[in-house]
Amino acid sequence: MSTFENEELYYIAKMREIVRTRSEALGRPMTACVVTFGCQMNARDSEKLEGVLSRAGFVITQEEDADFLIYNTCTVRDNADQRVFGRLGRVSHYKKRNPMMKVAVCGCMMQEASNVEKIKKSYPFVDLIFGTHNLYQFPRYLCGTFEGTGRVEDIWEAADRIVEDLPIRRKYSYKSGINIMFGCNNFCSYCIVPYVRGRERSREPREILREVETLAADGVKEIMLLGQNVNSYGTGLDTDVTFPMLLNEAASVKGIRRVRFMTPHPKDFSPDLIRVIRDNPVIARHVHLPLQSGSDSVLKRMNRRYTKQQYIDLAQRIRHEIPDVSITTDIIVGFPGETAADVDDTLDVIEKVGFDNAYTFIYSKRRGTPAARMEDQVPQDQVNAGFNRVLEAVQRNARMRSIALQGQVHEALVEEVNTRNEGYVSARLSNNMIVHVPGDASMIGKFYPVKLSECRGFYYFGEITGDERY
Ligand code: 5AD
Ligand code: SF4
Repeated sequence: MSTFENEELYYIAKMREIVRTRSEALGRPMTACVVTFGCQMNARDSEKLEGVLSRAGFVITQEEDADFLIYNTCTVRDNADQRVFGRLGRVSHYKKRNPMMKVAVCGCMMQEASNVEKIKKSYPFVDLIFGTHNLYQFPRYLCGTFEGTGRVEDIWEAADRIVEDLPIRRKYSYKSGINIMFGCNNFCSYCIVPYVRGRERSREPREILREVETLAADGVKEIMLLGQNVNSYGTGLDTDVTFPMLLNEAASVKGIRRVRFMTPHPKDFSPDLIRVIRDNPVIARHVHLPLQSGSDSVLKRMNRRYTKQQYIDLAQRIRHEIPDVSITTDIIVGFPGETAADVDDTLDVIEKVGFDNAYTFIYSKRRGTPAARMEDQVPQDQVNAGFNRVLEAVQRNARMRSIALQGQVHEALVEEVNTRNEGYVSARLSNNMIVHVPGDASMIGKFYPVKLSECRGFYYFGEITGDERY
C-alpha cells in the first residue's frame, strides 16, 4: 500500500498551470468529459479520473466535445467493446472542430493488446491509452498528453501496489462506492475479468474504514462495498479480517445509514455473512447472487464450483434468515454446449428461488478465456429461444415478488428528480426497489417513509407518509 503523493501531486500542479494558461488564452475555462462503460468498479474509477481532472482545473462536463475526453471502457461482453468503437467513430468530428482537443481511452478494454492495436490503426487521433493497473499515474499521463506531441501509451501487465487517497469527485453527494479489493482469482471459464483486472488484492481494513468515516463526515449516507468477489476479502492481508467482519464494521460507522455490497460469489457465501446481514438493519435487505446457470454440467464447465442444489439451498437459507430480503441475479444463456434441458434447469432455479430481479445475458465469446476454446458453441437461434424462455420466467417472477409489496410502507432514500414524470422524485428502498413519489430536488439524499401504492411491474409509484427520517 502507498499513498497518492509527491510525484502525482507534482503532475497535478503542473497540469493546473497548463490549464490556467490555456484557459486564459482561450478566454474560457477548459472542459473535460469522462464517459463510463461497465460496472460499479469502473464508475468508481471514473470518479477518480474526474477527481484528478477537477483538481487540475478542468470544468467537468457531460458534453463529449470537451477539451479533454476520456472513455473508461469495459470488455466483459463483445457489445461493450462495440459500443466504445461506435462512440469513438464520432470523436474525429469533434477533434476537427477543436484541434486542441485531447482524447484518451482507458480501462478494461485496453488490457487487451488487440483492442489497443485496433485503436491505433483505426482511431489514430487518440492521444492517450492506459489500462486498469496504472490508473493512479493518470496525472503524469495527462501532463504528457498536453505537453508532448506524440501519443502517450502505457499498459501494465499487472498492478504493482494499491495506491490510496487519489482525489475523487463523487457523482452523488449522498452515496458512494468504495473499493475493498481489486482483481479476481476465480477464473470462471467465460470471464475476461481475471485477465484484465489481474489477481485479487485486498485493501487494508483501516484504510477502508478511514474512507467510510471521511465519506460519512462529508454527508454520505449510503455506501456500496465493491469487489469482484467480496466474500474472499482479506485473503493475503496480515490482519485477520473477513468480509462479514468488515461489513459489520462499515455498517457501524456513525452517519452511515445503508450499506450495500457487490458482488458475492455463491460458493463462498458463509453462514456468518447471512447472520451479519440479518442482525444489522443498516445492511441493505438485498443480495445480488449471480447464478449464471442452473445446470450442473454447465456450472461445472463454467468453473463456478457450486451445484444447482447448493445454490437453491443457499438462496432459501438467505430468505429464511432474512425474510424481507430481495435476491437478484445474473444469468448467462448460450454457454458452449448448453442444451434446451440445461435451460430447463435454469428455469427451475428461477421458479424455486423467485428472483426479485435478474440480468440475463447472451454468452459472449471472450478471447483468451477457456470457454472460447470449447467446441459446440450454441447456434444463434437456439440461444435466442433459450434467452426468451429465461426472460419470460425472470420477468414473471420479478412481477410476482414486486406486487407482494403493494400497500407496505418502507423507508426510501430519495436519489434524483424523475425526468419522465414532472413533480416526482425517484427513491430507493433498502431492498433496491425504486419508487417514484411526488417531490422536488430539495429531498435528494434524504430518507422518508413511503407507501408503495401502485405497482408498475418492477417499480412503484408511491406517496410519502411522514416526515424525513434522520
Ligand atoms: N458472456 C456473457 N455474459 C458474461 N458475464 C461475464 N462474462 C460474460 C460473457 N463472456 C456476465 C456474468 C456476470 C456479469 C457481470 O456479466 O453474468 O455476472
Ligand atoms: Fe467490465 Fe468487468 Fe471491467 Fe467491470 S471489471 S468494467 S464488468 S470488464
